[in-house]
Amino acid sequence: MLEDKDRIFTNVYGYQPWNLDAAKKRGDWDNTKDILAKGQDAIIEEVKASGLRGRGGAGFPTGLKWSFMPKESKDGRPSFLVINADESEPGSCKDREIMRHDPHKLIEGALVAGFAMRARAAYIYIRGEYIREAEVLFAAVQEAYDAGLIGKNASGSGYDFDVFVHRGAGAYICGEETAMIESLEGKKGQPRLKPPFPAGAGLYGCPTTVNNVESIAVTPTIMRRGGAWFSSFGRENNKGTKLFQISGHVNKPCVVEEAMGIPFGELIEKHCGGIRGGKDNLLAVIPGGSSVPLVPAEQIWDAPMDFDGLKAVGSGLGTAAVIVMDKSTDIVKAISRISYFYKHESCGQCTPCREGTGWMWRVMERLRTGDANVEEIDMLFQVTKQVEGHTICALGDAAAWPIQGLIKHFRPELERRIKEAGNMAEAAE
Ligand SMILES: Cc1cc2nc3c(=O)[nH]c(=O)nc-3n(C[C@H](O)[C@H](O)[C@H](O)COP(=O)(O)O)c2cc1C
Ligand code: SF4
Repeated sequence: MLEDKDRIFTNVYGYQPWNLDAAKKRGDWDNTKDILAKGQDAIIEEVKASGLRGRGGAGFPTGLKWSFMPKESKDGRPSFLVINADESEPGSCKDREIMRHDPHKLIEGALVAGFAMRARAAYIYIRGEYIREAEVLFAAVQEAYDAGLIGKNASGSGYDFDVFVHRGAGAYICGEETAMIESLEGKKGQPRLKPPFPAGAGLYGCPTTVNNVESIAVTPTIMRRGGAWFSSFGRENNKGTKLFQISGHVNKPCVVEEAMGIPFGELIEKHCGGIRGGKDNLLAVIPGGSSVPLVPAEQIWDAPMDFDGLKAVGSGLGTAAVIVMDKSTDIVKAISRISYFYKHESCGQCTPCREGTGWMWRVMERLRTGDANVEEIDMLFQVTKQVEGHTICALGDAAAWPIQGLIKHFRPELERRIKEAGNMAEAAE
């Protein structure tokens, strides 16, 4: 189990105040000037050495991403950092804890990361429903300005850096990085076709990097304690500590910082008081937020909770939002509800997603009640394959994967319902 001394987020439960004085006592804003004095390239190298991979779901190496930003502006365009605080993936609730209890970690991270990528400002895009979190963030940013930590000559570094907080209006799709950029520009939040990638032309047509809240908030600690310290946790290619968010049928749902790669069983036993009704009562787990395929009980228990460990069992780490389902769960209903979510959140730009999400949900609803024939299970699977990889953004994949996981692992349950509803004979005809 990760020791307290190795936890980055020491106020994740809000036992202490979030304000600047308390944050400083926890070690934030401690000689930030010295970190910046190391220089842009040195910061990027240290973050690369830490092995940090993006905590927003896709797991792209963070230092490498920053290195795509231009070292100098040839045409006068400024560069920007956009911090993704949209956190709308069902099951995810970690960025929220950072923002309401430890906002200065994020603001200091914005300065360190923004400086490293030579950005003129950071825009924190926070989901509309996070009203109290936004209030804390606005107040914390003001504290940082008043103390000279950001703004002109930020932290006495000689570097000018602004931080803006922008509230979204409650669309899941605005969490996709290019939709977020569109939304920040005041347009409808719809993903852009890539290329150009944001590092070439992002916000207002300027070089931009979009990073998740957690990815940014850990960087000052990485700079203070060293990339080697961070990479001493976890396995090769899956380094560092990570906020896990465990919800559903465990005795004590929680958000907890652990070392990457902790086995699922250990995470649940040590931090969540075990599965409701005991280990044998576990049915399945969605380990990385609603968009990753479920993993049945027998495959998840010993799986390392990291990118490769969950890939090996046909799923993914995603945002590390672990949704635990015991045997009382109507698994078909659960996945159908997720399908409804994606149908509702599709921005409608691409036909496979706009039409496919609704089509998949309607078939899922019929499978839930058994009002289908068995061939439709394969047909549904084929449709998920026609949506996956054929859309502008990954929402199409996110809608397809949960259904694929259900069919792969719970086909007998789908067939049972069809049979019980008396539709098996029809299927055989
Ligand atoms: C439909 C959709 C929704 C997304 N929602 C979020 C989100 O709420 N928060 C987030 O950090 N990333 C989200 N992402 C991923 C972002 O596009 C992007 O990869 C991420 O912010 C990059 O940050 P990172 O490199 O620090 O992980 C979403 C992606 C898609 C396709
Ligand atoms: S995949 Fe869906 S959400 Fe993404 S751009 Fe296409 S229609 Fe919009």
